[in-house]
Amino acid sequence: MENKNTIFDCELLELPKQQNRDGNLTAINGGVEVPFEIKRVYYLYDVPGGETRGAHAHYELEQLVIAASGSFDVVLNDGKYTKTFTLNRPYYGLHIKPGIWRDLVNFSSGSVLLVLASKIYSEKDYIRDFSSFLNYKNGNS
Ligand code: TYD
Repeated sequence: MENKNTIFDCELLELPKQQNRDGNLTAINGGVEVPFEIKRVYYLYDVPGGETRGAHAHYELEQLVIAASGSFDVVLNDGKYTKTFTLNRPYYGLHIKPGIWRDLVNFSSGSVLLVLASKIYSEKDYIRDFSSFLNYKNGNS
């Protein structure tokens, strides 16, 4: 199991934009624009403005997080360092590696958070307790 990833392994990817007078389009191919095969897509919507979500890490899951509409902040923590990414354009995706704690904060009302994920849903892949996460990153569990 990987637990060595840091926030410096997580980066904002600029996605291709097909720009037209009648609207824009962004397409994401698994293994091409996003560096993993896409096994699951989910989205958060109707999040009340100012609400907080996330507050967990994953053992193995990789994700690309996109503000399909509106804006929110993703606060990443690797047990040592923390970094905040503001997502507010649908042609940027934040690649979150496994073993990184994330808090999703400051949702604008009407925002849509789109996630492309490398695995299907499994509750066993979650670390939902921050002190357990710190133990995991420090090799204590
Ligand atoms: P969770 O991942 O904790 O949401 P967030 O990080 O956005 O706050 O998931 C919330 C609930 O939805 C939880 O009970 C698990 C369930 N869920 C699924 O059933 N399938 C999924 O693909 C996801 C992401 C969550």
